[in-house]
Amino acid sequence: MPSPTPVRTVVVPAAGWGSRFLPTTKAVPKELLPLVDRPVIQYGLEETIDSGLIRAIIVTSPGKTALEDYLRPRPALDEFLASRDKSHLLSGIARIMDGLDISYVTQREQLGLGHAVLTAAGSVGPEPFAVLLPDDVIDSSTPALQQLLDVYQARRAPVLAVQRVPRDRISGYGVIEREEIASGLHRVKALVEKPCPEDAPSDLGIVGRYVLTPDIFDALAATPPGALGEIQLTDAISNLLEIGPVYALEFEGSRYDAGNPLGLIQASVSMGLTHPDLGPDLRAYLAGLDLSTGWPRSPASPPSGPP
Ligand code: G1P
Repeated sequence: MPSPTPVRTVVVPAAGWGSRFLPTTKAVPKELLPLVDRPVIQYGLEETIDSGLIRAIIVTSPGKTALEDYLRPRPALDEFLASRDKSHLLSGIARIMDGLDISYVTQREQLGLGHAVLTAAGSVGPEPFAVLLPDDVIDSSTPALQQLLDVYQARRAPVLAVQRVPRDRISGYGVIEREEIASGLHRVKALVEKPCPEDAPSDLGIVGRYVLTPDIFDALAATPPGALGEIQLTDAISNLLEIGPVYALEFEGSRYDAGNPLGLIQASVSMGLTHPDLGPDLRAYLAGLDLSTGWPRSPASPPSGPP
């Protein structure tokens, strides 16, 4: 069998209002909120490069120009940092700007995730592509997108990332009905977006990583508004089931929902603990906390900061 068309593009939907982070998101896109030592979106773009992709199409909306500013060269700042021997402070973002061909499409109306992906159709072209939701930050030894791409290479069909979700939170997810065909790999039988817990066909919720084939665009164009009155990517993937198989992978790694304040705090604590510079001090700080007040138990030893 000839090898499948390689996947080289990721679509990154980043057009939402970020209303769960208001009032901050009046001025700062939620994708630029800091998680430990860099903006949330940077984790997804690093995962993209680490998975071997070379093109990112960011779906943005009017008023989110700060996102483009972040991913644009800033020669005066480069010069200033070089003169102070501090160029390493921008090495992470420089790697993204060097490694990815980044372009933008504007979603003028917030009509849902499916509509956001459809907005990118002309830029993606007739080839398979990945979708990465930047709110879903995944800490894993093999990049989560790479894990999905490996399944795509072997099966040549769309692949979704899934994880087990407690029943009381399942209504926030797209949920699959499935048949397990190998350990952690499922053939999808049906999908439902944001079901009531009693109607959820399983406890496997979709996490924001997908590898899709270009026929998703026709399916999206024919998909009416669904849950929340929005055009849902999940509903369009349901339509693909009529054409061929769709797979779901329980990926290896820890996933954080950095799209809400509690999830961002949880991600900050968990990922901060393994940060090479910040981890030891953060661990000592947390270990010294009185969890009922949130205050350090011993006021004589204040939390340490940078020297
Ligand atoms: C979106 C998808 C949903 C998926 C979720 C993962 O929902 O529509 O299927 O389970 O992302 O984060 P949202 O979180 O945008 O409501």
